[in-house]
Amino acid sequence: MAGAAAEAEKSPFEKELLAGKVALITGGGSGICFEVARQFGLHGASVVLMGRRPDVLQTAAESLRKESIRVEHVEGDVRSADDATRAVEFVIESFGKIDILVNGAAGNFLSPAEGLSSNAFKTVIEIDTIGTFNMCKAAFPGLRRGGKGRDGADGEGGVIINISATLHYGATWYQSHASAAKAAVDSLTRSLSLEWGPDYGIRTAGIAPGPIANTVGMQKLGVLVSEEDGLKNIPLRRMGKTWDIAMAALFLASRAGSWISGETLVVDGGHWLSKPQAFPRDAVTQASRRVEKISREVGASDKGGNP
Ligand code: COA
Repeated sequence: MAGAAAEAEKSPFEKELLAGKVALITGGGSGICFEVARQFGLHGASVVLMGRRPDVLQTAAESLRKESIRVEHVEGDVRSADDATRAVEFVIESFGKIDILVNGAAGNFLSPAEGLSSNAFKTVIEIDTIGTFNMCKAAFPGLRRGGKGRDGADGEGGVIINISATLHYGATWYQSHASAAKAAVDSLTRSLSLEWGPDYGIRTAGIAPGPIANTVGMQKLGVLVSEEDGLKNIPLRRMGKTWDIAMAALFLASRAGSWISGETLVVDGGHWLSKPQAFPRDAVTQASRRVEKISREVGASDKGGNP
């Protein structure tokens, strides 16, 4: 968390972008979602951080208050439907309503599939997938058009942002558990956008971050890769910053994203598309020209031409 503020950059968005909004951010005590909370707060939102570790939440909230951000925190485990309901009630008690839910709480670690116990697989599914569902379900009455603190039945509904991953686009070594969990999260993003958009006015979107520096995710998942090798797999040749994800979240949560629903935005510097360079540029250009020249010569000598 300490690194997050240091690496942050100036926002290109107006300071009032989220003025008057109230956001609940799971996993907001540290890492990516701490910066999401911070940027939401710096852009006018009141924020509530939810997580399992009271000391981490306390420290995070104190640090945000120093930046004049209106912030509260609530201890809870997204795996518990009761905790989810309690957290949403706390948000409404604290700030009168809920406009934005960011589902950032997640669990992951590297493990070959054959080394995972059933409980290990289930644990990650429970945190990522069931936790996301629990939070969406608990927030639904407040997020829906006409929910508590909203302006009557004609008002806008709220926004859900699910933090996902790119692991399951194709497949990722040693992360079968998290890949399955995040594939289900993306599916939920689409289903809720279909079901909760029309009658309730709720927008549901996702963000799939690539490798983000100074996060628990990088400590855990990048442990066997040198920074130099890691960068070779990122077409934009830099690590992500928590700020990159926070800017995407601001965009999706704000009016700028008001026609985006069901989509998961990849913010990864092109990482998931990365492939080793097939041939050097010069070689491919020369070879391609040579092939064209030969085929033109063959075509010219073939009087009948191709059928
Ligand atoms: N390899 C294989 N299995 C592992 C493991 C690893 N590295 N780490 C945990 N497990 C297994 C445990 O052995 C246990 O299975 P078992 O009961 O069959 O032995 C199961 O996973 C649950 O572990 P436990 O520590 O009891 O769960 P928890 O709820 O306390 O913690 C985790 C959940 C494991 C996901 C933990 O890493 C966590 O809390 N992570 C949150 C932060 C995080 O991971 N962020 C991800 C950023 S990408």
